[in-house]
Amino acid sequence: MDVESIRSGIRGLIGKELLFFDAVGSTNTVALSLTEDAEEGTVVLADYQEKGRGRFDRPWVSPSGVNIYMSVLLRPSIEPDEGHFLTLFSAVACAHALRETTGLPVAIKWPNDLMVANRKLGGILTEVRINHRDIVLAVIGIGVNINMEIADLPEPLRRTATSVIHETGQHAKREPVIAGILNHLDYWYGYLKRRAGLAIIDEWKRLTSTLGRTVIVTRGSETYTGLAEEMDEKGGLIVRLPTGERRRLISGDLSLAE
Ligand code: BTN
Repeated sequence: MDVESIRSGIRGLIGKELLFFDAVGSTNTVALSLTEDAEEGTVVLADYQEKGRGRFDRPWVSPSGVNIYMSVLLRPSIEPDEGHFLTLFSAVACAHALRETTGLPVAIKWPNDLMVANRKLGGILTEVRINHRDIVLAVIGIGVNINMEIADLPEPLRRTATSVIHETGQHAKREPVIAGILNHLDYWYGYLKRRAGLAIIDEWKRLTSTLGRTVIVTRGSETYTGLAEEMDEKGGLIVRLPTGERRRLISGDLSLAE
């Protein structure tokens, strides 16, 4: 990894402090263990993760030298019930950056999966620390499949995951994609800091492939099947159930029913 070329492409606060490791357990775990003096915007980047973590405690396949694994440390000082804006702003930023740097038509699957043609190109794992009534620390962990061959994935993922090389047929340099993601995160984090959540939601709606689809959402032991009708102004997904009831969801695992 050419870390200097990433550094020279960074334009904002996010990524100014960039810690690169050849190998880690998980970049999220490393970022969460940084001390209180770690600057907001510090990024932990690795070439390989031994124990990459996905949402819902799933493993995140993280082979060496081919993909992007990084975590961004933020100190947003927002209330826990606004926490899902972290998820939404980071998905918007990543989708824009990936469209720009790879040319692929990346769409967001609720809440923050990065998809190309209904296959998962990347994912985001947001972890927070709460003190009293504020989110004092947030770690946005981003994994994007760049030069990984689909055949190198375990069998069940071969039908649902993708990578840039699989989609374009061409090897892609990771450094400009990393710098692009960090710069777009910096830009969209500005909206969150200015409490301009509506602008984030509007952009999320423009980039999502979820609204208007029949979906199955699992939350703990509950499952809801219905039409993903709308995202409300506070970032809740409105699902219309077969009974006609409209259910508001702010987190969960979503798949398409069709
Ligand atoms: C998902 O399940 O969709 C989220 C995947 C997040 C993976 C990234 S890779 C970098 C960071 N470190 C981790 O252990 N996980 C996140």
